[in-house]
Amino acid sequence: MSIPDSHPSIHEHKGKTCPVTGQGHAFCAPQQGDSRSPCPALNTMANHGYIARDGKNISAQDVTRGLKECYGLSSPLAYFLAYVGFMIIRKFGRTNLFDIGKHGAVEHNASLVHHDTPEGHTCAPIDIDSKLVEDLCADVKPGPKECEKDGKSWLMNYEDVARARIRREKEAGPIDSVHAEIARGEMAIILGVWETKTKDKAGIPMEYLKRWISEERMPDGWRPDHVQGLMDVVKRAKGIKKAVEQLRKDEAAAAAASSSETEKGKGKE
Ligand code: HEM
Repeated sequence: MSIPDSHPSIHEHKGKTCPVTGQGHAFCAPQQGDSRSPCPALNTMANHGYIARDGKNISAQDVTRGLKECYGLSSPLAYFLAYVGFMIIRKFGRTNLFDIGKHGAVEHNASLVHHDTPEGHTCAPIDIDSKLVEDLCADVKPGPKECEKDGKSWLMNYEDVARARIRREKEAGPIDSVHAEIARGEMAIILGVWETKTKDKAGIPMEYLKRWISEERMPDGWRPDHVQGLMDVVKRAKGIKKAVEQLRKDEAAAAAASSSETEKGKGKE
């Protein structure tokens, strides 16, 4: 297969500068040999040169700096995520992004857009399943068609995330409470970074989320408009947890009501 003339040449990434896009934070997809993780936030930072574009030789300090610059995280939140993350994966120096996906450390099964780690593998797969991306988008209510019809913005909020978490744990099996907390925290951060409020809903624009989670790319021209703090993320993660509990209760009540209807029907036969 030949590469079209308009395609940037295949090139090597060294440090934060890309030889094709030049200095700055323009997007460049990973090149052959670059290292990537199952985390959209870290991969996006590498694709935009907020950390080394080849995803190699990265320290917790590099990640901290990148999180502050790229997403506008507060120092306590950025230090917490980077240093606690590195501690959990037992990296006390530099690492590459792929090794951050060490299975069972921060990484867990029932991810939103990635498959579970296959038996015998040490690190999680980094491929994004486009069907899982579509399913994630379908968990957002109202969906794109209703929004278009009613002139509303298509936004994802904590309840939509809860629906996605419940679905993925049904598909892949339940995860332990620590990893369930991590999974909620991952989405709680981005809900805070991109929150937009309209009169109908507060949530993050789906065009941002979809591009970020499937192409690992930032919205064009977006820059942080506030400092995203740790306590706000904790509050949002609790919101997702409460929504998960409520949706599970509603599902159980609906299932009980439908089985009692069936029993009544049988009694009449
Ligand atoms: C702005 C900060 C961050 C955000 C918004 C974020 C968000 C996310 C999201 C949404 C996922 C889920 C992907 C999926 O379910 O398919 C994820 C996965 C992951 N993140 Fe991050 N992340 C951040 C920072 C970090 C840091 C600092 C580390 C480690 C040092 C890290 C390590 C991971 C790992 C290992 C996974 C895989 C978990 C899984 O199995 O799904 N993340 N992240």
